[in-house]
Amino acid sequence: MTEAWLSETRSSYDTDAPGYAEKVRGLLDEMPFLRASLSLFAERVRDAGDGPVADVGCGPGYVTGHLHDAGLDAFGIDLSPEMVAIARRDYPHLRFDVGTMTDLDLADDSVAGIVAFWSVIHVPDHAVPGVFEEFRRVLRPEGLVLIGFHVGDEARRRTEGYTGRPVNVESYRRRPDKITGWLRDAGFTIDAELVIRPDDEVPGAVVFARTADPPTT
Ligand SMILES: C[S@@+](CC[C@H](N)C(=O)[O-])C[C@H]1O[C@@H](n2cnc3c(N)ncnc32)[C@H](O)[C@@H]1O
Repeated sequence: MTEAWLSETRSSYDTDAPGYAEKVRGLLDEMPFLRASLSLFAERVRDAGDGPVADVGCGPGYVTGHLHDAGLDAFGIDLSPEMVAIARRDYPHLRFDVGTMTDLDLADDSVAGIVAFWSVIHVPDHAVPGVFEEFRRVLRPEGLVLIGFHVGDEARRRTEGYTGRPVNVESYRRRPDKITGWLRDAGFTIDAELVIRPDDEVPGAVVFARTADPPTT
């Protein structure tokens, strides 16, 4: 049975997909630290031997497009069919699938990297360990992860979408050590964490992790 939070998140993003896509259009142009993080991630995937990269919770697909432009074999997965429709429309040369990060329709050891930008923010605490175990399962050895999220301690329920339509979606702000703790528990090694504009009311953060043990030299 689908859990209520998954159904609510899906239907909220289905309702709000055009508004969200409009809000984030061109966003990466204004986000040098995110662009740099994606470039570094792309470089590290190539250094680790390249391979498919899943943009999980891809929304309208602009991060997937950016990863593709950076030379990666990137594809997107999103819970919301309406988001996937927009991504397919705007990036017709790329692959986008409807799916959930709680149960990825991907084989074990099949991807070289996973980017999850501001999508795990909708997963409640009790379900995050299972999501990171899914990431671990589908990543091959030397697989890389890049997670982006809002920093804080609160949960926030949004009831109005970007075009004023009713939605019902919860977002969870988290301290980086909470995210890195869950990643370690799922078998990841943490490579780096970056808090972006830490003095903002709600800073952003990215965490780089990988499936392998740290090099001994
Ligand atoms: C805030 S948007 C982020 C979209 C995009 N990654 C970005 O950075 O703009 C969150 C996205 O995560 C998707 N999402 C939420 N829960 C998900 C899940 N369990 N599996 C896959 N996608 C999910 C939503 O449908 C939505 O498109």
